[in-house]
Amino acid sequence: MRKKISIGIIGYGTVGSNTAAVLQKKNRFFADRTGIDFHIKKICDVNWDNKRDWMPPVSMRTNDYNDIINDPEINIVVELIGKFHPAYEIIKKSLRQGKAVVTANKFLLSKKLTELLTLADTSGSYLGFEASVAGAIPVIKMLRESFIGNRINSVIGILNGTTNYILSSMTEKHQTFSDALKSAQSLGYAESEPSLDISGKDSAQKLVIISTYAFQCGILDRDFLIEGIERIEPQDIDFARELGYKIKLLAIGKRLDDTVFLKVHPALIPVNHMLSDVESVYNAVYFEGDLFGKTLIYGEGAGGKAATSAVIADIMEIGRKLYLGSYLSEQFIINPHVKFQSSDELKTRYYLRFTAIDRHGVLASIANILGKNKISIASVIQKEENPEHAVPIVMLTHAAIEKNLQKAVSTIDKLSCIRHPTQIIRIEG
Ligand code: HSE
Repeated sequence: MRKKISIGIIGYGTVGSNTAAVLQKKNRFFADRTGIDFHIKKICDVNWDNKRDWMPPVSMRTNDYNDIINDPEINIVVELIGKFHPAYEIIKKSLRQGKAVVTANKFLLSKKLTELLTLADTSGSYLGFEASVAGAIPVIKMLRESFIGNRINSVIGILNGTTNYILSSMTEKHQTFSDALKSAQSLGYAESEPSLDISGKDSAQKLVIISTYAFQCGILDRDFLIEGIERIEPQDIDFARELGYKIKLLAIGKRLDDTVFLKVHPALIPVNHMLSDVESVYNAVYFEGDLFGKTLIYGEGAGGKAATSAVIADIMEIGRKLYLGSYLSEQFIINPHVKFQSSDELKTRYYLRFTAIDRHGVLASIANILGKNKISIASVIQKEENPEHAVPIVMLTHAAIEKNLQKAVSTIDKLSCIRHPTQIIRIEG
C-alpha cells in the first residue's frame, strides 16, 4: 500500500497556487517515483477572491492558519506568505509540534535561519528552504549534502533574477532601466516591492542564507556593504563594454582562515569571466571549497515555476526522509571563532567615472588626490566632446583599500571642476 503524506499550504499566491496545482496534476508521477501519495489536506489564504489556474474545493480552503498547524494529520506545512509576522510564529509552532516546514521566506530566514534550524533539530523536525535562494537551482541541497565535507572559502553569486534581467536588457537590447523593470515585473520576476530587488537587499538576504550555511557563521542581521543597480547608467554599460567588461550585480562572501566578509554591489566583470554569460533571469553561484575545488551552478533564478520546482523538491525530500528514518541527522553548528571584516578594509579594483569640465589641470588634480590616497591608476578614457560642457572621464584603478578610495572620491567631488557625484563601480575577477 502507498504511504501517505498530508500537506497544508499557507499562502495561495503565485508559488502557493502553482505548488498546489502541481501536487494535484503530478500526484501519480510523484507516487511512482517515491512510493508516496503527497496529498493536500488544507490550504489557507486570507482572500479567496483571486482566481488561480487551479482553485481548491471549498472543503480544502480555510482562512485560519491554525487549522493547518494544529491539525495532527498534517505532516508538512508549506509557508508561502512571506514577510516576518505571522510567518515566524507559524514556522516555530509547526516545528515545535514536530511538523516539517517548507518555506521560501528569504526575508525571515535572513534574520532567523540559525534559530529555526536549531529548533528543527531539537524538535526532531526539518526545515526545507531551497526556494528561498536562486529559484530552482539546488544551492541549499549542495551545501547541505554534496559539499558537507568541505570547507567553503568563497561564494560569488548572481542571486537576483530581476536585476540581472534589467542589466542584460540594458546591455543587449539597449532598453531603458524603467522599460526593463516593467517587463521583469510583467514576467513575474520582481518582488511585489521591486525596490528590494533593485537596491540589492533581495540578493543580500539570499547571500546571508547561503553564507550562514557555507561559513557556519551567525552573521544574521549584521551590516555589510549593500549597493543596488539604481545608479548604473547606460554610459557605464557602454564604457564597461569598451573596456572588455560587463556589469553584474554580485553577491560575494569570502573566508580567509576564520575571517569572513560579505558584500553585494554591481561589479565590472571581464567578458571572459565565468559569470559574464549569465544573462536575463538566470542566476548562478560560484563556490570554492577545499575538496571540490571550484563549482559553478546555473539555472532559472526567479519566476513562479522555478520557485515551485524548489518547493516541490523539498516536499518530496521530506516525504522520503519521513519514511526512511528521521530528520535528526542534521545538526547545524555555528563556528564561534568566525570574525567579520568591515568593508572599509577590503581591497578591490575600481571603475571611476568623473564628470568634469574639460580644461587644463583637471586630470592632474584628480590624479594628485588619488595618488595622495595611495590609489594607482591603471587606465584612463576621456572622449573629445563639447569643451563647453562637462565630460565623462573614466579611470580604472589598481587594487585599492575601500576607505582610501571613498576618501579620495569625496575630496575630488568637492573640486570646482567636478559637475556630478563620481560614479564608483567595483571590479571583480
Ligand atoms: N525577485 C526575486 C528575483 C525572485 O528577482 O530574483 C526570486 O527570489
